[in-house]
Amino acid sequence: MIAVAGASGQLGHLVVDALLNLVPANQIVAAVRTVAKADDLKAKGVEVRHADYTQPDTLKAAFAGVDKLLLISSDQVGQRFPQHKAVIDAAKAAGVQLLAYTSILRADSSPLVLAEEHIATENYIAESGIPAVLLRNGWYSENYTMGVASAVEHGAVFGCAGDARLATATRQDYAEAAAKVLTLDNQAGKVYELAGDEAFTLTQFAQAIADASGKAVEYRNLSEADYVGLLEQVGVPGPFAAVLGNSETGAAKGGLFDDGHQLSALIGRTTTPIADSIKAVL
Ligand SMILES: NC(=O)c1ccc[n+]([C@@H]2O[C@H](COP(=O)([O-])OP(=O)(O)OC[C@H]3O[C@@H](n4cnc5c(N)ncnc54)[C@H](OP(=O)(O)O)[C@@H]3O)[C@@H](O)[C@H]2O)c1
Repeated sequence: MIAVAGASGQLGHLVVDALLNLVPANQIVAAVRTVAKADDLKAKGVEVRHADYTQPDTLKAAFAGVDKLLLISSDQVGQRFPQHKAVIDAAKAAGVQLLAYTSILRADSSPLVLAEEHIATENYIAESGIPAVLLRNGWYSENYTMGVASAVEHGAVFGCAGDARLATATRQDYAEAAAKVLTLDNQAGKVYELAGDEAFTLTQFAQAIADASGKAVEYRNLSEADYVGLLEQVGVPGPFAAVLGNSETGAAKGGLFDDGHQLSALIGRTTTPIADSIKAVL
């Protein structure tokens, strides 16, 4: 039995769909906080169980009989470690044989503040003694392509990443990798650094939007403070805007670049080029 915790989210849905291509539906559990958001998975024959990272009792019941568990990191930045700790404790109590965790690219040396909660989680997994595999995911291409319409409208991409090289991949790419790892043997102890095959700068990203849309789009590099201020102006809550600004500055130090090609090796194809993701959005 393979369970996906956080299956109601965007990555989680894609992981379950990728698993459905590899194992029968009756071997998959979608462990979710919001059960109604997994009705579509239930309709595909997947067992849906209530699992809230802040309610340990739900976790204990959700992981009963589970052999392999994917812990998809919570989206509640700042509250993630205690939530993940509860999942790890419940997985241990349930006798889970393999715990996979969606961490961040090179968590142990990453300059991004986001890495702190991931490292705390990785360390707690190691202390737990549960056989584990780390999926250190790089940035989603969607983090950038969600801004394509606005970039076309304003003729500009804004950021503070300078000439950072961004080796992004789509959620679909990362999801297929997670499903593969959950169905392969001998994964305990492995650490995957997962990133896209092609890296791009935000100047190249703006040019790719211009090429695909036929509209002039340029990259405007701001100071971290100005970029965070801009994000707040357009409605991003202050603490999260600060995390995004820090991530771009961390990218400028190499934090979101990788050329190990471990993701494409796992999924057996090249990762989705950013130009394709831009075209899909347009
Ligand atoms: N690599 C990147 O570029 C990147 C970008 C953004 C996020 N992330 C990380 O990757 C994760 C997955 O990404 P995503 O795009 O799928 O995010 P998402 O669509 O926002 O999904 C987040 C998932 O976390 C679940 N969750 C939050 N709090 C929970 C709790 N207390 N108990 C159980 N589940 C809880 C949500 O459940 P509900 O459906 O009930 O809300 C949802 O299923 C994120 O949570 C975040 O940690 C990575």
